[in-house]
Amino acid sequence: MILDGKAVAAQIIESLKQDLAKKNISPVLAVILIGDDPASRVYVRNKQKKAEYIGIKSQLFEYPIDVEEAVILDKIHQLNNDENVTAILVQMPIPKHISREKVICAIDPKKDVDCFTPENVGRLCIGIKPYYYPATPQGVLMLLDSYNIPIDGKSAVVIGRSNIVGKPMAQMLLNRNATVTLCHSHTANLDEIIKTADIVISAVGKKIVRCKMVSKKSVIVDVGIYKDSNGNLTGDVDFNEVAPLVDFISPVPGGVGPMTIASLMVNVVKSYDANKPVS
Ligand code: GUN
Repeated sequence: MILDGKAVAAQIIESLKQDLAKKNISPVLAVILIGDDPASRVYVRNKQKKAEYIGIKSQLFEYPIDVEEAVILDKIHQLNNDENVTAILVQMPIPKHISREKVICAIDPKKDVDCFTPENVGRLCIGIKPYYYPATPQGVLMLLDSYNIPIDGKSAVVIGRSNIVGKPMAQMLLNRNATVTLCHSHTANLDEIIKTADIVISAVGKKIVRCKMVSKKSVIVDVGIYKDSNGNLTGDVDFNEVAPLVDFISPVPGGVGPMTIASLMVNVVKSYDANKPVS
């Protein structure tokens, strides 16, 4: 069975739109975009388009690739102090001369809709509710939940240990009482580990999950998205080989991608309440 992220995301987006219209509120998302990486531009445009459709106001602050670090840090402080702005997103990657650490630490955790700040990540790890959950892992869980796929007590394998996906994904599965194995490029016997899993979540960016690795009854979630040598969008999983063998699988495109945007929008809507003035 296909995990149809496009359809589930569309339902979430519609319900957020209705929610905002009913409450007559309008969160404001500020996006900082540095440089002219085409992929980042597409991501940012997609996020802004979806935000506007829902009724979220969005502001884009664009900077050239050689912008000074201090300019970005000043902008973040200004956005932190701006009562109208409820959510701040700095599109990654940022150029090397700007400290990722300083940028992330500068964001007010109450406006940190990516869940990048140490406060929100720390809260996630010690089981105190963060202000926001990271968009992609939250989107994956919303997708599994919408198909009533159980997580509690299941064995889950996450492939890839990025700060944006792999690490928080593993943590959030652990928080849902899965037994989690976090695999990466140095993992020995990846095949055997994958074979024992009830749930496999791959976030690597290259073709890694093939049919001989999977077991029947498993749930395969493909977070990878990149262009193959023919220029077609593809994921980490050999979909044609693996799909007939497993219980559930998410496609690329149309799986985790739309769920990530919907999940970010959930966070931006939430940001209104997290930042409303105390009366
Ligand atoms: N670049 C790639 N993924 C993301 C994301 O989820 N958030 C931000 N801010 N930048 C990204």
